[in-house]
Amino acid sequence: MSKKDVVHTTESEIAVHWQEEELYYPSVDFIAQANLTDTSVHERFKLDNFPECFKEYADLLSWYKYWEKTLDTSDAPCWRWFVGGELNASYNCIDRHLEKNRNKTAIHFVPELLEERTQHVTYQELWVRVNEFAALLQDFAGLKRGDRVTIHMPMCAELPITMLACARLGVIHSVVFAGFSGKACADRIEDSQSRVLISMDAYYRAGKLLDHKVNADLACEFAQGMGQKVDKVLLWERYPGKYSSSAEMIGGRDYSVNTLLKEYYGQRVEPERMKAEEPLFLMYTSGTTGKPKGCQHGTGGYLAYATATSKFIQDIHPEDVYWCAADIGWITGHSYIVYGPLSLGASTVIYEGVPTYPDAGRCWRIAQDLGVNIFHTSPTAIRALRKLGPEEPAKYDFSFKHMTTVGEPIEPAVWKWYQQEVGKGKAVIVDTYWQTETGGFLCTTIPGMNPMKPGSCGPGAPGIHPIIYDDQGEILGAGAGKAGNICIQNPWPGCFQTIWGDRDRFVETYFGRYNKDPESTDWRDWPYLTGDAAFQAEDGYYRVLGRIDDVINVSGHRLGTKEIESASLATAEVAEAAVVPVKDAIKGHVPDLYISLKPGITPSPEIAQKVSDTVCKEIGKIAKPKSVWIVADMPKTRSGKIMRRVLASISNEQDVGDVTTLMNPDIVAEIKEQHLKGSK
Ligand code: WT7
Repeated sequence: MSKKDVVHTTESEIAVHWQEEELYYPSVDFIAQANLTDTSVHERFKLDNFPECFKEYADLLSWYKYWEKTLDTSDAPCWRWFVGGELNASYNCIDRHLEKNRNKTAIHFVPELLEERTQHVTYQELWVRVNEFAALLQDFAGLKRGDRVTIHMPMCAELPITMLACARLGVIHSVVFAGFSGKACADRIEDSQSRVLISMDAYYRAGKLLDHKVNADLACEFAQGMGQKVDKVLLWERYPGKYSSSAEMIGGRDYSVNTLLKEYYGQRVEPERMKAEEPLFLMYTSGTTGKPKGCQHGTGGYLAYATATSKFIQDIHPEDVYWCAADIGWITGHSYIVYGPLSLGASTVIYEGVPTYPDAGRCWRIAQDLGVNIFHTSPTAIRALRKLGPEEPAKYDFSFKHMTTVGEPIEPAVWKWYQQEVGKGKAVIVDTYWQTETGGFLCTTIPGMNPMKPGSCGPGAPGIHPIIYDDQGEILGAGAGKAGNICIQNPWPGCFQTIWGDRDRFVETYFGRYNKDPESTDWRDWPYLTGDAAFQAEDGYYRVLGRIDDVINVSGHRLGTKEIESASLATAEVAEAAVVPVKDAIKGHVPDLYISLKPGITPSPEIAQKVSDTVCKEIGKIAKPKSVWIVADMPKTRSGKIMRRVLASISNEQDVGDVTTLMNPDIVAEIKEQHLKGSK
């Protein structure tokens, strides 16, 4: 077997080798109505016009005080955008739309159960509810500008209401994906030093009412153990007035928001005038070390970028019904369910449950019922919908003008099904490549201007100038035929400002590799390292292969292998643990877990189950290992380093390459044998 067939541990190295694909063109009808068709955009946003080009983006917002300086680089690489400006995100997402659109739907909330009707929250109602809740946060919880609050809530209208109430007060929100465990929530409470946790008693998922309050209890308990006391837990009720959890309300700590709100009827709170560079929120994401990174996003730059890309790339017009089926607990939901669409005064759909409940036609019924014409989801969801109901979309009367795919590479065959069956052969598609850190799109086609290429995200978004370096720092240009490390040459307003409480880690992780001079305050010396491998085709389009580090992208979201490994080690019987990505037909990649046991302990399916359960408990079901392989020993180098590369090859049923230099080459054959027999 040739060298290139050997798989390694990183996703980029496991990537499939797709051939070049044919181009698809946006329809005449789409182009005729598109928000961006003016070809001078390339000239306006070229590197020579950086950073002033981003004034166009800032001008989509309403400022209390207009900014003076576009970009301040004096604290490189912590860039400050729109310096001197003052604004409020909640004002931009709500108040400024009232005069003309108070009666318009801001949020369509679709409960998972079919027998529950969709709720339509108008801009006026959103304003009332955000004001009343902001008053509660201020008076009852004592929160003020700069404080951090952890929000562990499912998909519901109350989640953006909570976020916007925080934004109104200048309180920094940190939303944790509801599927994460109480322990994972506690880690984020501790890191952000939140003393208030906002949660919900229960929510529906796959037809079952999940008890979510239990996670709040666990989170408080673990956080306390780490030295961070939560003073107040504010609980929204899934059914207002009816508590739906089995967990006890703890006196003096737990409060029902729905009950408290009665005292805040009619209260209004003036939005805080926030400096453009003051933080709006934290969003935690996995990195190569165990601890998740709190990505700190600023107010002015982030909101300008989310708003502009929603307008020009999502092509949202005021009359559109826009549905992004991501979860608000991830960055996609922050930028493209909440902040971007609401800042534009659009109607945004929030769906509580899973896309395939109760059947594979659910999404298309929602689209038909609400008249959704812009649809946004991940390859994982597309693969699942295609597998379960390839013929379903044709049965419903809906028509998308525009569709998005985000979060992981999409296979051309899956892209084509999406285009043909879901898009009914006429919707334009954008494959948007970006990250939690980047706040908004990095690479994408401009929907009304560029042809689409299945499997490729396209060129840099306006004002984003990617560059691919090899490990030696040489540039790999268009048509180089080789993949390298994709970086962004210039700062952009949506980029996160730092890692909460860890500037050194921020500088080292994202700029350490290709920085030309650590003393420099010239942005040209600070290319941003995405951590992905990509290559650029002759036509300039980028194709992202996956992560170059040991982070696994599961269903479009990053999980740190170290986090999973340390969760496994929490089981008393486990001596060593190694996690590798294995290709999965629906989820892209899933973690495969190898463990070896402490001396004297006999392997058993119970131990494997216990480890799997611990991983789910510590991190959440999203991290559930595909298999737990109990091995006699790990393949190791002579210096004792676990060779994850070898394990990844076995998990992906590929050649392991040369293992003769290992300390214990025999173990490789033994583990392979185990795989063949399926004996875990
Ligand atoms: C990682 C970021 C983007 C918000 C949701 C995930 C991968 C993302 C694409 C795409 C190929 C993609 C990258 C990136 N990724 N979008 N269109 N094509 N790969 O945010 O959890 O921060 O993950 O997802 O590997 O680095 P995230």
